[in-house]
Amino acid sequence: MQARPGEERAEKMIKSTIIGCGARAIEHAASYKNIPEAAIWAICDSNLERLRAFPGAIPAERRFSDIESLLANFTPDLVHLVTPPTVRLAIITRLVSAGTKAFIIEKPLACSLAEAQQIVTLCRQHGALLVVNHQLPLMGSYRRAKQFLEEGAIGAVERVRVSCNGSPYEQGTHMLDLASFFLGGIRPQRMLGQMAGAGKLTAAHPSPEWMLGRILFEGGAAVDLVFGDIADPRVDPAHFWVGCRVEIVGAKGVIDHKLSHGYRIITEDMPVIVDAAFNYGEENAQAQLDLTRRAIAAVSAADRVAAGNGDAALLPIALLEGLIASASQNAIVDYPVAPIPDLRRRLEERLAQ
Ligand SMILES: NC(=O)c1ccc[n+]([C@@H]2O[C@H](COP(=O)([O-])OP(=O)(O)OC[C@H]3O[C@@H](n4cnc5c(N)ncnc54)[C@H](O)[C@@H]3O)[C@@H](O)[C@H]2O)c1
Repeated sequence: MQARPGEERAEKMIKSTIIGCGARAIEHAASYKNIPEAAIWAICDSNLERLRAFPGAIPAERRFSDIESLLANFTPDLVHLVTPPTVRLAIITRLVSAGTKAFIIEKPLACSLAEAQQIVTLCRQHGALLVVNHQLPLMGSYRRAKQFLEEGAIGAVERVRVSCNGSPYEQGTHMLDLASFFLGGIRPQRMLGQMAGAGKLTAAHPSPEWMLGRILFEGGAAVDLVFGDIADPRVDPAHFWVGCRVEIVGAKGVIDHKLSHGYRIITEDMPVIVDAAFNYGEENAQAQLDLTRRAIAAVSAADRVAAGNGDAALLPIALLEGLIASASQNAIVDYPVAPIPDLRRRLEERLAQ
């Protein structure tokens, strides 16, 4: 594609492309006003109305309705993949073979472990950076809460409880990512799960509707989880999507974090600490900016694959599939878990019972 007058500077920039132009993609694009070394160069959506309406000064000739017409003009340096999860494997397969070397992929990475592993393998084989857009641990509020934890405010962690509305594959992967963040990346060992509800198997994020589970980690800490609409009756319906809750129970206190309000820390020996600095909108936008900046810095890293760390990307999907295996077999399942063959059919059969 010919550079227009005034676009010479852009030739030196990292040229990003957004694929999937829904509401979430608008938040991805917003980060770029604070990233001078990169720009949203092109966008792609099969929905022409959304393609035209997407905000920003992207000229019509760089608004593409399919991947082939995008690739006929331009190979993106970095792709933000903000489509629903089920169409991503085919898009990534095409883009890595065309030479794209970096992806920010919205959560969930995939709705099955088999597909998630294929994406990670494809990126490894092609030396491509893969960043899953789990931005919540970059929010100031979670980082401040973790600092209290590391300073010993609640003593040794005994148990973490995570809950959210939305289905396990829609919101639950955020919560498993947060649990892993607070546990400092220690390895899971085994898990016990229960699940119910076939009503979301045909949704944009195919998933059981509800899940209950316990995951035991190295060192003895346990993560208890409840995922699914009205998972936590304490959540005000007005805060449905930000009703995500992380409760960390330590030997001498509790950190209770709600995405709608930030944290409260209750300990034996201090007055209650309230997260007075919490501002969801600002912190979430800053977290998205930080995640994007880190990915852009890693685009030119010699080892892009290590910078993206595919194993960490797989963890929430592997845990969900382990919990599904446990629920299906009524048995404790060890980690690591193997992909369940024909997961969709197994879920249909099991959840119909
Ligand atoms: N990290 C977060 O905090 C957060 C918040 C909201 C949503 N999300 C995630 O972001 C993703 C997108 O969410 P959304 O609400 O914007 O979804 P959406 O369905 O509104 O938008 C997705 C867009 O992708 C387009 N699309 C579908 N298939 C395509 C294809 N093959 N080629 C090109 N375009 C295609 C659709 O036309 C649609 O415009 C989901 O995975 C969701 O879970 C993450």
